Amino acid sequence: MLHSNLQINEKGHLTLAGADVCTLADKYSTPLFLMDEERIRENARTYISAMREFMGEGSRPLFASKSCCFKRLYEIMAEEGMGTDLVSPGELYTARAAGFPLENAFFHGNNKTDADIEFAIDSGVGYFIADNREELCSINTIAKRKGKVQNILLRLTPGIDPHTQQKISTGKVDSKFGTAIETGQAMELCRFILTLENISLCGFHCHIGSQIFEYEPFADAADIMLRFIKDVKDELSHSVSILNLGGGFGVRYIEEHPHIDYRENIKSLGEKIDEMCLALSLEKPAILMEPGRSIVADSGLTVYSVGSVKTITGYKSYVSIDGGMPDNPRFALYESDYTALIANKADKEADFVATIAGRCCESGDIIQEDVNLVCPERGDYLAVLVTGAYNYSMASNYNRLPRPPVVMIRDGKDYVAVKRETHADLIRNDI
Ligand code: LLP
Repeated sequence: MLHSNLQINEKGHLTLAGADVCTLADKYSTPLFLMDEERIRENARTYISAMREFMGEGSRPLFASKSCCFKRLYEIMAEEGMGTDLVSPGELYTARAAGFPLENAFFHGNNKTDADIEFAIDSGVGYFIADNREELCSINTIAKRKGKVQNILLRLTPGIDPHTQQKISTGKVDSKFGTAIETGQAMELCRFILTLENISLCGFHCHIGSQIFEYEPFADAADIMLRFIKDVKDELSHSVSILNLGGGFGVRYIEEHPHIDYRENIKSLGEKIDEMCLALSLEKPAILMEPGRSIVADSGLTVYSVGSVKTITGYKSYVSIDGGMPDNPRFALYESDYTALIANKADKEADFVATIAGRCCESGDIIQEDVNLVCPERGDYLAVLVTGAYNYSMASNYNRLPRPPVVMIRDGKDYVAVKRETHADLIRNDI
């Protein structure tokens, strides 16, 4: 199987963290998000211990909330000692409601409103990751009014193309995020920040992209960022203590994807950073990273019920499920790869090639094309694996479909972390 938390039991059923996926689908109905709590914790611990060991004092991961966001997850992150990255007042509100210690939160966003900024300052968010001049002026004004000095990191674009999907690559010079080093604008902005009395410039941030399977692009980004830190020190006599390299380590969605050893990659990256700092005679900053996908993706799967199985003679076959692009828009958006299987026949030979279609009134509502399944029939449970990241968090109510619940598995027991939406929930705000 793709990941060690996925197995097949004596009934021939798929299991996640030892729990029978079909039994849980019977109990909670479908569509259903399942998450393996222990796997989330293991992934978090891998980052925390490797970053502490190989990147030095103060270095730590911040969970990228956008990959999956609900209250229970923040409780888990807080218990494990993870920081978090928040990109909206909604994520901030959720973290706050879960009692997450917000001094360990970093507030992102390329267009924070004045209201967002005020909310974050009032909530005691540790750091803003500031994106642009207008935002900096607003943070300074609001912080001044409140008699505070706000810590910030400044988001920069190092000009790295990690050769991943264009829509999820963000560190290139022409990105909508941050400020370019190459054009000289980043240095200019730093000069300006140092004139602002209610802002403390503590470090810099970059994020080069997502689904990256090796450390080298991060090392390239670190090289550019460390040189910039050195230039700021020399030109502006200002030293910073934090370098945030963003998120982006990849996850295995299909057999063809490589296994990735996060600890080894963090070790190699840490060694490169040490060498670079030595060469630049620069005191090593604390390193932060913002993993999202690599913390939660392999903890999760989605279970659907098969409805129709339609073969268009001479063309193709469609297997239709009771969910689709509202709970997983990633194929429609990025043509993302997924592994799918019939959970109640997981031990049988898969010899039926089908396109998995959702139930929306839209032909692009596809979860995966041309997958091999075991003769699917109405009433079978179809599992789509590795959906813990960017599925629940990107889910919508398109076609007025209620969002599925999130059920967690811990020590072989299941519990509801997010309830299934009801039809009543759908009209709650309708006047
Ligand atoms: N930090 C920043 C500033 C980011 O923009 C992102 C992702 C992350 C961290 C987390 O990256 P990760 O470790 O999860 O790769 N919706 C897309 C992915 C967009 C990611 C955008 N930023 C997807 O479904 O693949």
